[in-house]
Amino acid sequence: MAQYDLIVIGSGPGGYVCAIRAAQLGLKTACVEGRETLGGTCLNVGCIPSKALLHASHQLHEAQHNFEKMGLMGDAPSVDWAKMLGYKDEVIAGNTKGIEFLFKKNKIDWLKGWASIPEAGKVKVGDEVHEAKHIVVASGSESAPVPGADVTVDEKTVVTSTGALALEKIPETMTVIGGGVIGLELGSVYARLGTKVTVVEYLDGITPGQDAEVAKTFQRILKRQGLEFVTGAAVSKVETGEGGATTHYTLRKDDSAHTLESEIVLVATGRRPYTDGLGLEALGVTLTQRGQIEVDDHYLTSVEGIRAIGDAIAGPMLAHKAEDEGMAVAEILAGQAGHVNYEVIPGVIYTHPEVASVGLTEELAKEEGRAYKVGKFAFQGNGRAKANFAADGFVKMIADAETDRILGCHVIGPMAGDLIHEICVAMEFGAAAEDVARTCHAHPTYSEAMREAALACGDGAIHA
Ligand code: NAI
Repeated sequence: MAQYDLIVIGSGPGGYVCAIRAAQLGLKTACVEGRETLGGTCLNVGCIPSKALLHASHQLHEAQHNFEKMGLMGDAPSVDWAKMLGYKDEVIAGNTKGIEFLFKKNKIDWLKGWASIPEAGKVKVGDEVHEAKHIVVASGSESAPVPGADVTVDEKTVVTSTGALALEKIPETMTVIGGGVIGLELGSVYARLGTKVTVVEYLDGITPGQDAEVAKTFQRILKRQGLEFVTGAAVSKVETGEGGATTHYTLRKDDSAHTLESEIVLVATGRRPYTDGLGLEALGVTLTQRGQIEVDDHYLTSVEGIRAIGDAIAGPMLAHKAEDEGMAVAEILAGQAGHVNYEVIPGVIYTHPEVASVGLTEELAKEEGRAYKVGKFAFQGNGRAKANFAADGFVKMIADAETDRILGCHVIGPMAGDLIHEICVAMEFGAAAEDVARTCHAHPTYSEAMREAALACGDGAIHA
């Protein structure tokens, strides 16, 4: 029986980062993973493979729509789907093997199999029981069923994001249930590959929680790209048959019943914590009503010696939030002051254009009764964006009306997911919009749009 300072359960971004940081800080560490490869949902069937398909399909879109405008003539490439999936699988393999290498480098034992916790201080994997001073549960999440609806996922015709990343062929038609992050990213992939994609969303607009102006612009742009939207619609049932499925939904405004036929249905109505088989309830670990593991400020559960992080606990289900918690918990266990600033966690949707946000939305600022000001700048005024056919969208900065301190920032536009980090750093330092406005930004870059939005919080943007 091996003896460890720390056993981490799950090797997704939360778990593997926690294990690496713990090992770096001198803890004898093991990580349990039941999949064939390390990296969890994110690397195997989530963030990374979806980005590979988004990248490939975006290149196709560029060839089809923008090459000729730049004098690049000739037919746009055709799609070899099997090869595109092969590229995606190579990307997955490269990344998961990278984690394996990092585990070896940091002398972390990979305990292969599915874990259970017979008692605090013990982790059972297969027939073996390992001892650990500390256990961190980083078991992640799984697709949640469509609430109140009769929908059976078979990962062939009715798929979650997992099945959608490995369809046998590019479908002619696809119904996406849920206009959130997964639905729009994967919906974009297939729309670019020629599928007729219809998104059915329960609310009146897409991406709930997003700044309303951004969400509206986003929906308009996606519509222009060929995605269709049925909003204010509650899905009640999906029936599968020969060659496809029928999605039944009711429009909330008049209770009228409708159906949609499609070859594939993608269920993207959220995710829920995955803690099956760990034996948490028998141990007395308190769960919330939503099945999340309850933790204190130090990620400690109701049972001494057992901590939890990532999608299995409350908060946004984001890989980078899990990573930060993984690092924080490792630091806490090593006697340092691990901490996560939940006020500054960016969110990114990797469509084209990208959507990125951090901090307060205008709606939240209003709700909190704050005196705020808004600085907006459209990418139409950004030379680089215009040159690259990427001038759709804008930057919206929200700052305190009195102190000028940045409260939030929302970007829809090129490389938004990278641009947002300038504001994350600024917010971590408690910066004012003027601090960003007075920082020299290289020309010509997309990042000038961030500075212009900051200028718009003061005496005005230059190129507006
Ligand atoms: P989501 O919570 O982003 O969106 C779910 C959508 O489904 C919501 O708009 C909701 O109103 C709608 N919905 C719920 N019930 C419905 C019904 N009966 N009929 C029609 N619409 C309904 O969830 P999603 O997209 O499944 O993503 C799951 C999690 O994974 C999220 O927490 C997301 O943040 C995370 N994720 C993050 C990514 C990123 O950061 N780029 C990429 C993919 C996933």
